[in-house]
Amino acid sequence: MKLTCVVIGFVLTGLAHALCPYAEQALKDPQFLIRHVEEQNTAKEDTPKEKRQSGPGNIPFTTFNQNQLVDVTGSHAWVAPGPNDIRGPCPGLNALANHGYFPHNGVVSLPVGASATEQVYGLASSFGVPLTVYATLVDGDVVGDTWSIGGKQPQTLTSPILGAGDGLSGSHNKYESDSSVSRGDYYLYNGDVSSVRVEKFKSLYDLQKNVAVPNYNLDVLIQHRQYTFTNSESTNPYFFSAPFAGLAVANAAHTFVPALMSNHSAEYPNGILDKETLKSFFAITEAPDGTLSWTPGHERIPDNWYRRPLGAINEYSPVSFAQDFVQLAAAVPDAATVGGNTGTVNSFTGVDLGDITGGAYRTTDLLNPTKFVCYFYQLTLALVPDFLRSEALGSALAGALNLLQTEIDSFVDPSCAKIANYNDTFAAQFPGAAVGQP
Ligand code: HEM
Ligand SMILES: *[C@@H]1O[C@H](CO)[C@@H](O)[C@H](O)[C@H]1NC(C)=O
Ligand SMILES: *[C@@H]1O[C@H](CO)[C@@H](O)[C@H](O)[C@H]1NC(C)=O
Repeated sequence: MKLTCVVIGFVLTGLAHALCPYAEQALKDPQFLIRHVEEQNTAKEDTPKEKRQSGPGNIPFTTFNQNQLVDVTGSHAWVAPGPNDIRGPCPGLNALANHGYFPHNGVVSLPVGASATEQVYGLASSFGVPLTVYATLVDGDVVGDTWSIGGKQPQTLTSPILGAGDGLSGSHNKYESDSSVSRGDYYLYNGDVSSVRVEKFKSLYDLQKNVAVPNYNLDVLIQHRQYTFTNSESTNPYFFSAPFAGLAVANAAHTFVPALMSNHSAEYPNGILDKETLKSFFAITEAPDGTLSWTPGHERIPDNWYRRPLGAINEYSPVSFAQDFVQLAAAVPDAATVGGNTGTVNSFTGVDLGDITGGAYRTTDLLNPTKFVCYFYQLTLALVPDFLRSEALGSALAGALNLLQTEIDSFVDPSCAKIANYNDTFAAQFPGAAVGQP
């Protein structure tokens, strides 16, 4: 039942107490992380939080509160990353680091990953906590309970058996995926998954070209999803969409744009995402002749930007995502499928989830939001043993899984089907599944 840090502690006797600051606590007390997240959130408005649930989903907002203004002054003023600061494929996280909501160096501790995303963007802790625990275990430093929003962390005491500390940029097919909103595919750009491909961004940008009141809402991002999917399918012979990184993360990256970057106001309580705000979050500038350019790491929360309201019914939860996913899947069914190209372009082949999950979930189950949310949580539990290094055995693996299980149990419906037999044989038919693996 002991976590890896404790196992490591046998080697690093004396250091053990200083290590695993959050994981040890979380194992002793399942509510610890959640409480820690809530305590760090000073901003509060609207309905009281109900912490134990995923939230009822997307209900249009009708009210607006001045507290939704996000502070970008003082200690939260924008500061460009320096040469030793890490930035990566996620614009939302890069912006947090630039504004001091995350450490400026881009290395984030387990609870801060969830508290800052909730406080600044209104990402529900039922979403943020699993995302940050998963990041810690799969590409973070399980000894220090930290993870990097981009490349490898410097000077970590990373366990030799768990979590290589590679960061989000080094997590291809585990976290980071092909077919992103604006970033390029690993295979096409020799592993550079963090750089914005301006032509890709432009295709999104131009979707509101001659529109009176431009608004990059869910419908627009779903149109863009059609483009990003077809773009990978038709240009990348090794395009691969993995069960979590592809199906969940790459699609969530599209729905996160309107859900978490829109500006809320009394006039538009439900939010509006205009051109200037979109460019600011994506570090894009536009010359007078309309030429777009990207400045690495310069993602910025605009001045006078108001996030979605907080509170259990308002925050963006896995249930909200599941509902957005149903709309996305209806328009772009292949994007809601695990699969890939088989070595040539335009050869996308989908796999039924039933074959991967030992029958626990079928592809069509994902169109049922309740089952989708179950899949989201249960899949992370099934994948961690698969992703940890093969040497991760015995108590180390048990400890890591126990942490994830403990946290996910706080949110998951006990009636969700468990993925007892995760079967990754399907991946062999997709050469892209092996791209970027050590
Ligand atoms: C702990 C929380 C989060 C984690 C671990 C995370 C992780 C990631 C990862 C791994 C990617 C790359 C996915 C891919 O390759 O397609 C990504 C992309 C993205 N994320 Fe996040 N993210 C988090 C929170 C957020 C938030 C709060 C926002 C919005 C404010 C956001 C917006 C996006 C967008 C728009 C992309 C697509 C980027 C592009 O292709 O240009 N994420 N995120
Ligand atoms: C958000 O909306 C408010 C109200 O319309 C406006 O004053 C503010 O400038 C907007 N912020 C951004 C970043 O567009
Ligand atoms: C695993 O999946 C493959 C198809 O990808 C299938 O042929 C095989 O029977 C499955 N194995 C088990 C134990 O279900």
